[in-house]
Amino acid sequence: MAIVAPSILSADFGNLKEEILNLEKGGADYIHIDVMDGVFVPNITFGPPVIKKIKNISKIPFDVHLMIDKPERYIEDFVKAGADIITVHEEATIHLHRTIQQIKSYGLKAGVALNPSTPIENIKYILDYLDMVLIMTVNPGFGGQQFIKSMERKIFDLRNIIDNRNLNILIEVDGGIKLENAKKIINLGADIIVVGSGIFEAEDIVERTNEFKRI
Ligand code: DX5
Ligand code: ZN
Repeated sequence: MAIVAPSILSADFGNLKEEILNLEKGGADYIHIDVMDGVFVPNITFGPPVIKKIKNISKIPFDVHLMIDKPERYIEDFVKAGADIITVHEEATIHLHRTIQQIKSYGLKAGVALNPSTPIENIKYILDYLDMVLIMTVNPGFGGQQFIKSMERKIFDLRNIIDNRNLNILIEVDGGIKLENAKKIINLGADIIVVGSGIFEAEDIVERTNEFKRI
């Protein structure tokens, strides 16, 4: 069974408490939190103060996806706000190995995200230090975009690399995941599926979250 990480990017921000409680009732494993700075991606969301406020609503781990430039400047703030997993973009930090060590020094799990056009080869030599790799299957910045089909190959290739090297890394896939394509993505090798609009467009959030859990 895949790990389901609903993204609150498509939630009603005026009602985050109720939305998170519904995700919990539906069986969400992680809450995926999309942090955007208007520089690395053309959109702005929220930062540590908001995360800190919503942290005590449930006990579900916070999976924080930083779409911000030079994330090393803010790791400590996100740790203090309550992040359990922090993922930074390979394209956003020059000294990626150092940034990963920084996240791990707080006892958190560390992930690296790859934009659709970024090759897996870019992280070949730091895989040993990672807990998670996030494959972006849309260009980051917005919810509700179309899954980029050629990313299927990337998920499959990364699965093979991880299995061949016997690495203990989870593959997270993020962007354009719906009920219709989730099974295929899991079969290609995803351990964690991030779902935003695929959950929040539903009438019944609890039931829809649970449908993803049952795939
Ligand atoms: C995109 C974000 C995703 C987004 C996914 O930049 O990283 O987490 O919320 O939304 P959907 O599932 O609607 O593509
Ligand atoms: Zn995300």
